[in-house]
Amino acid sequence: MWKPGTDFTTMRCLTHPPLRRLFGLSLQCVPGGLSQSKSPIISPKWSSLRQSCGARLGLVTATDVVNYWQKVFETNGIPEARESSECIVSFVLGAKTFQSLNSKSLHAPLTAVQQEQIQQLSSKRLERMPVQYVLGEWDFQDLTLKMKPPVFIPRPETEDLVSLIVEEESRKREKNSGLCFPVPVPHPVILEIGCGSGAIALSLLCKLPQSRVIAIDKEEAAVDLTRENAQRLQLQERIHILHHDVSYSSAKQLLVWGPIDFIVSNPPYVFHEDMASLDAEILCYEDLDALDGGDDGMRVIKTILALAPSLLKDSGSVFLEVDPRHPNMVEKWLQAHPNLLLILRAIHKDFCGKPRFLHIQKQSR
Ligand SMILES: C[S@@+](CC[C@H](N)C(=O)[O-])C[C@H]1O[C@@H](n2cnc3c(N)ncnc32)[C@H](O)[C@@H]1O
Repeated sequence: MWKPGTDFTTMRCLTHPPLRRLFGLSLQCVPGGLSQSKSPIISPKWSSLRQSCGARLGLVTATDVVNYWQKVFETNGIPEARESSECIVSFVLGAKTFQSLNSKSLHAPLTAVQQEQIQQLSSKRLERMPVQYVLGEWDFQDLTLKMKPPVFIPRPETEDLVSLIVEEESRKREKNSGLCFPVPVPHPVILEIGCGSGAIALSLLCKLPQSRVIAIDKEEAAVDLTRENAQRLQLQERIHILHHDVSYSSAKQLLVWGPIDFIVSNPPYVFHEDMASLDAEILCYEDLDALDGGDDGMRVIKTILALAPSLLKDSGSVFLEVDPRHPNMVEKWLQAHPNLLLILRAIHKDFCGKPRFLHIQKQSR
């Protein structure tokens, strides 16, 4: 399945005042000023689509509209034009991907209602709204989650963070079952700091059916969305969702189910100086506090690490998603704080080969 771009630092700016005028859109949120575009625009009016394809017969098919909106998006500098167009059309036709549509669906005439829906959703994409917010839902691992601006959209690389915890848990169980006298291993208690839409927490609950998760976020909108997603997926029994701004004095409130086996977080980790060069999609629609990690990108990371020893069981683990510059910085920071008894166990790469995930473990006394 296609996943939209994930590199936070790529700037793909747009400014197309003529098109925006045509749609009566506001220009305020577009970074990079309001330079006039000289490129011709394709009229996004539906009448021109009918003229350009199938008008003679009064028919417009899924293939026609995908091609049409791809051109409109391309001409207006919208990134991932083809993918955006396919996503919207397949969503309206009730399919997960455009590729999964059969020949009949691709060539059957669209109803007036379907055409209208595609027009409305595509107009939002023309305003640089991320396709996940346009559709109002998105897949993360095997789950379909509701998406709502400005709550952070889960990125595909974060799926690997979930897998690392699942692997670590099964390694622990295998190790125990290999002992001469296996001891009962309690089911894991997991804490997620900064749950956003609930993607990591809910995925872990699915992959580890005996686990329980405490999910916290400082934003009410995120807490509400995690709660809604938990209910939609019938996972609300094993999750404790808390509106909480994590700080050095959070320990007592977070130990609701006793000491913790795994702390997981995809914290805000973008270096503050990089914030201005994020994509328009992010700057206009996503909560920037979900991304801004302060001057060194480590503001929340340091809080989590300072708290970890008082939250974790002996040999418990912290799994973090970070910027590729962070592994060295975190290692040095841990060496400078030996009293925390935390060691950097492993650095894992993401699917682009960048060092992205940290496994940090609490040493047994
Ligand atoms: C990068 S987003 C990750 C969201 C989600 N875990 C995911 O991967 O899709 C970071 C999240 O941390 C939350 N957050 C930031 N600072 C926080 C703090 N001090 N305490 C609790 N949550 C915080 C933000 O509101 C945001 O939802």
